[in-house]
Amino acid sequence: MGREFRLGFVLSLLLLVLLDGCSGSYVGVCYGRNADDLPVPDKAAELVKLHNIKYVRIYDSNVQVLKAFANTGIELMIGVPNSDLLSFSQFQTNADTWLKNNILPYYPATKITYITVGAEVTESPGNVSALVVPAMKNVLTALKKAGLHKKIRVSSTHSLGVLSRSFPPSAAGAFNSSHAYFLKPLLEFLAENGSPFMINIYPYYAYRDSASNISLDYALFESSSEVIDPNTGLLYTNMFDAQIDALYYALMALNFKTIKVMVTETGWPSKGSPKETAATPDNAQTYNTNLIRHVINNTGTPAKTGEELDVYIFSLFNENRNRLESERNWGLFYPDQTSVYNLDFTGKGSVDVATGSNSTSSNGTNTWCIASNKSSEMDLQSYWTGLVVLEMWTVQLSSLASLVMSQIIWHLMLLMHLTATTNKMGLAEIACSFGGAGIRVDKDPSYDSCLYMTAGSNKTIASNTTAIASKSLSTRNDFPAWFSTFFLATFITVLLGVNHV
Ligand SMILES: *[C@@H]1O[C@H](CO)[C@@H](O)[C@H](O)[C@H]1NC(C)=O
Ligand SMILES: *[C@@H]1O[C@H](CO)[C@@H](O)[C@H](O)[C@H]1NC(C)=O
Ligand SMILES: *[C@@H]1O[C@H](CO)[C@@H](O)[C@H](O)[C@H]1NC(C)=O
Ligand SMILES: *[C@@H]1O[C@H](CO)[C@@H](O)[C@H](O)[C@H]1NC(C)=O
Ligand SMILES: *[C@@H]1O[C@H](CO)[C@@H](O)[C@H](O)[C@H]1NC(C)=O
Ligand SMILES: *[C@@H]1O[C@H](CO)[C@@H](O)[C@H](O)[C@H]1NC(C)=O
Ligand SMILES: *[C@@H]1O[C@H](CO)[C@@H](O)[C@H](O)[C@H]1NC(C)=O
Ligand SMILES: *[C@@H]1O[C@H](CO)[C@@H](O)[C@H](O)[C@H]1NC(C)=O
Ligand SMILES: *[C@@H]1O[C@H](CO)[C@@H](O)[C@H](O)[C@H]1NC(C)=O
Repeated sequence: MGREFRLGFVLSLLLLVLLDGCSGSYVGVCYGRNADDLPVPDKAAELVKLHNIKYVRIYDSNVQVLKAFANTGIELMIGVPNSDLLSFSQFQTNADTWLKNNILPYYPATKITYITVGAEVTESPGNVSALVVPAMKNVLTALKKAGLHKKIRVSSTHSLGVLSRSFPPSAAGAFNSSHAYFLKPLLEFLAENGSPFMINIYPYYAYRDSASNISLDYALFESSSEVIDPNTGLLYTNMFDAQIDALYYALMALNFKTIKVMVTETGWPSKGSPKETAATPDNAQTYNTNLIRHVINNTGTPAKTGEELDVYIFSLFNENRNRLESERNWGLFYPDQTSVYNLDFTGKGSVDVATGSNSTSSNGTNTWCIASNKSSEMDLQSYWTGLVVLEMWTVQLSSLASLVMSQIIWHLMLLMHLTATTNKMGLAEIACSFGGAGIRVDKDPSYDSCLYMTAGSNKTIASNTTAIASKSLSTRNDFPAWFSTFFLATFITVLLGVNHV
């Protein structure tokens, strides 16, 4: 034990932090461009990076957008619009040429992982449904010729309208039979190629269109009561889960049990027509915050607990060319790139769910406490002698930047400090001192799995308007919770025998 043990301890802590950020379900964002006032794609890509968003869905294969996301590490889902389905379904060469001219020149610098062929075809005017599967097959063939069919998956997105009903989930378990002619071959295609069924889920519209029967809390993941599915006895606390499960039951009813589900659009508008009283920044923030927590937590749904479920939030920007007022205000950002409301994409940090306006701290700006670049390495290390061992070890590991590792450790130390001071004095008194080693910044320094809490704001904890969210936040920062992480880390160290390194 001794040195080696400490090294193992640090390693397994690191492992925990990394695993935490790399496994399980993810949250992306839809980058729609149906507007005439949006920033250029380069700026949009910068914004996405700044906010730690790792997955982006676009609706076409615009060259400027593909270029903007090159070498960012951000995974892109690109689309073949419905207007191209006819040509893609008619001739293989059309799909081949598109791939060769529009995609391959930018791949793999731009990390493309999905191609959606057609979008919500059942809602589309004209009978394009029949073209989807032939077009998907041609795109897949083109990918096979380029040797990319294992790296880029082909699917198509759908509205919940493909189901005949959606409640109760088990009984709804059926696709609308009038779509069967194209859905059956589509499902066979997905099962054969390991592609997910892509669905767009909008509890907002379900609530808006039958507000008398559905509580707002249920739509916003805030419900304290449950809705029982009489057939299965499963309890639903939110509409999102109920809608997803309706889809699972529909898939199971047709015996497609292996097909995964992916949510390619969901969200909540911050503004609507005068009648749409639930379209507010507060509700949008609550829905998306709770959605992210729900997804990142890998909770799954009542029918498939723990099942991975990736979601994309609609949408990055407000889009002024959409037809209806409520369709123009789904953005997380205004075209000038300022936030419509704060949203933490990691689902773990501190987000002020209750205030729902532009900024959270008392004087209108958020501040974070980070390691000052002036402070010497030794200042930081003095907080944890084990770091010396870590530094020695990182020298041997060329693949991992030691900077990243010391940042992770620094982050853990910060959390320990925050936790300690929180318990003693409450969040308001948190100082950014660390013996002069820390400085305040007003840009969120969080990256990957490394989250920073805002300093000097206690609104989140103080508020009781969103009881569920606040509760989960405060437990997250509990001292015992962090202690148990440390004990777990130690335990894993022993289990893995890492101390023999
Ligand atoms: C759409 O086309 C398919 C196949 O051509 C056909 O079976 C289906 O009835 C058509 N649907 C409508 C609404 O025209
Ligand atoms: C099924 O789809 C058809 C065609 O889109 C539509 O007319 C019908 O109302 C749908 N049935 C149900 C039960 O949703
Ligand atoms: C509410 O539910 C009742 C019975 O379940 C139904 O008859 C009614 O149409 C629903 N109202 C709305 C607005 O969906
Ligand atoms: C996270 O998951 C655990 C169990 O898997 C559950 O008890 C908890 O309520 C979940 N938290 C949220 C915010 O969904
Ligand atoms: C948020 O910012 C937008 C634009 O910057 C502004 O129009 C809006 O009034 C602000 N909302 C609040 C609650 O301050
Ligand atoms: C807000 O407070 C922080 C720290 O208390 C300070 O550094 C910052 O300048 C203030 N911002 C404004 C706009 O007053
Ligand atoms: C250190 O921080 C200051 C202000 O925060 C910044 O101007 C400077 O460029 C930084 N230096 C390095 C080497 O990052
Ligand atoms: C923190 O909360 C307390 C009680 O809710 C309040 O009196 C105080 O002003 C808050 N401080 C800040 C910085 O928001
Ligand atoms: C907290 O809850 C109490 C009782 O439920 C209520 O009277 C009070 O206004 C709430 N406080 C806030 C900040 O919402």
